[in-house]
Amino acid sequence: MARNRIDETAKRIQQAARRLRENTSGEVGWLSDQLEGRFPQLAGRSTFAETGPPKTLSELQAELDALIGLETVKEQVRALVAFLRVQGLRKQSGLPEVATSQHLVFLGNPGTGKTTVTRLLAQMYRAMGLLKRGHLVEVDRPGLVAQYVGMTAIKTDRVVRRALDGVLFVDEAYALSPRDGRWDFGSEAIEALLKRMEDFRERLIVIGAGYPRLMHDFLDSNPGLRSRFSREIEFPDYSTEELVAISRRFATEHRYELAEGSDRALRDVFAGCVRGEGFGNARFARTLFEQALNAQALRLTDEAGGELSGLGENELKTLKADDLLAAAAALGEGVPVDDQAASWAFFRRRRKAS
Ligand SMILES: Nc1ncnc2c1ncn2[C@@H]1O[C@H](COP(=O)(O)OP(=O)(O)OP(=O)(O)O)[C@@H](O)[C@H]1O
Ligand SMILES: [Mg+2]
Repeated sequence: MARNRIDETAKRIQQAARRLRENTSGEVGWLSDQLEGRFPQLAGRSTFAETGPPKTLSELQAELDALIGLETVKEQVRALVAFLRVQGLRKQSGLPEVATSQHLVFLGNPGTGKTTVTRLLAQMYRAMGLLKRGHLVEVDRPGLVAQYVGMTAIKTDRVVRRALDGVLFVDEAYALSPRDGRWDFGSEAIEALLKRMEDFRERLIVIGAGYPRLMHDFLDSNPGLRSRFSREIEFPDYSTEELVAISRRFATEHRYELAEGSDRALRDVFAGCVRGEGFGNARFARTLFEQALNAQALRLTDEAGGELSGLGENELKTLKADDLLAAAAALGEGVPVDDQAASWAFFRRRRKAS
């Protein structure tokens, strides 16, 4: 019990330290390093708890297929899985395996489904018997890089050990390469990672992810990197129609229904967003959905004059176009609902681009 409380407190302090380090000159980094030394389980975020019986390969494949869009990603994952299965069967038959590196690079803007697919892939590796646990440890630069000489390799090692028999997902991996040619501890993390990727070839899969442009620069920054990551999978931005479908999925998952006119409102909002490195794709769709729940709650409170007890199931589960538009406006993505929506969206795009 006491230990739990200490762990919980340590976790909170570490999160605060990480936030401070990201927002300040890094003076407090030692605190995070000390805490991770004391509580190694804090290194990296474990985003997949191994609960319940492991899923079968076909169940996982069905989950992947059910994701909206991502056709090229699904195709590449299918090819990868097929290759690994055939290599596994060759091994069983006494034929030599073709030893290829299993480490991958995911190239994509924010919210394009990289973490979602990684989580499924990690479990697929487990289902194929290639990884014992198939858990996912997600980490970013502050989770690997320490503030003092010699500490980064130790910190990186700690994260690697947590990820053994699973997948280590390095988000925004490009942040590890030195900027403006200056040397920094990021290089130490890359060296340590490359070594561990080799040492634990059979027990660890590393996926480096990030914006396409910066990831290409990153892979070019160190000769060892490109050869270590065998495949690059591109996650394209979602189209407006795909984002509408993803929003519908969020609504259904949470037992909400979208009223008539909602699709059009969603379409107008998504069509008006400037795409590129700054656009959150499905993550933006999720934020919009969550914001729309607030707008719905406010609308219902206003409509009922504060007397919420009389509200029926229908009202509680219906999201109206106005809720979505209010949500978009709150997020700074407001669009008018009249027929001029398209031209207004065009105007906004032009304004933002200039
Ligand atoms: N194709 C899809 N179909 C349904 N839901 C999706 C799809 N892609 C992403 N999502 C949902 O959108 C949210 C963001 O996805 P995810 O975290 O996988 O993106 P990401 O690429 O890892 O983003 P980031 O780069 O910001 O970490 C999650 O809630 C996920 O469930
Ligand atoms: Mg992610």
